[in-house]
Amino acid sequence: MTSPFTDIKACVFDAYGTLLDVNSAALRCKDELGDKAEPLAETWRNKQLQYTWLRSLMQRHEDFREVTESSLDFSLEAHEISDDALRTRLLELFEVLTPYPEVAPMLEDLKKAGMATAILSNGSPQMLENATTSAAIDGLLDHVLSIEDVGVYKPDPKVYQLAVDRLKTPKENICFVSSNGWDAAGAAAFGFQVAWCNRTGQPSERLNFPPKVVLTDLSGLAELVI
Ligand code: LAC
Repeated sequence: MTSPFTDIKACVFDAYGTLLDVNSAALRCKDELGDKAEPLAETWRNKQLQYTWLRSLMQRHEDFREVTESSLDFSLEAHEISDDALRTRLLELFEVLTPYPEVAPMLEDLKKAGMATAILSNGSPQMLENATTSAAIDGLLDHVLSIEDVGVYKPDPKVYQLAVDRLKTPKENICFVSSNGWDAAGAAAFGFQVAWCNRTGQPSERLNFPPKVVLTDLSGLAELVI
């Protein structure tokens, strides 16, 4: 593929859904959840994201761990599950989500080529530290940036500006990568060069800020940006 990216100096990644499989917590409790594992994972993720947007609009910030907990409680009730031990286990597993298999080799390729790498995520600093350590990708990331430093969730432009400021790299030279179509649109509206990793075959967002590239996973990213 001819690359549409120009003069990329840093790759900045969304974490949840992009590098880490957000469904892996519920799926690892398949024995207890049975047929409810997938629907619970879907409600949990949708509600978690809704709460980030709503809290930002309401100007009533809570960190991502609290949002993750509240959205799980909503979802457990919605699916008529009442099990305190399972609730605790799901929250513990959300701290150590499974990374997608191509993530570590892709980050290694970027580092070998001298590319700066970062996470820019809604996750709180402690959640991101737990996640990157357990996924063994902490050593492949130059920066792990949390929206907690600006106190508002994506896609507020203040979040994307945090990457520009911390990496000391102009937005035009940053490739932002997300599996979340709405996050990709927010990042493109901000002015990043964007790759949308459409892992689940979603339709394109109709927000008028398309990505430069659509991928199905991250295995082809390095050759496009190096
Ligand atoms: C994140 C969410 C959007 O990591 O997936 O910021």
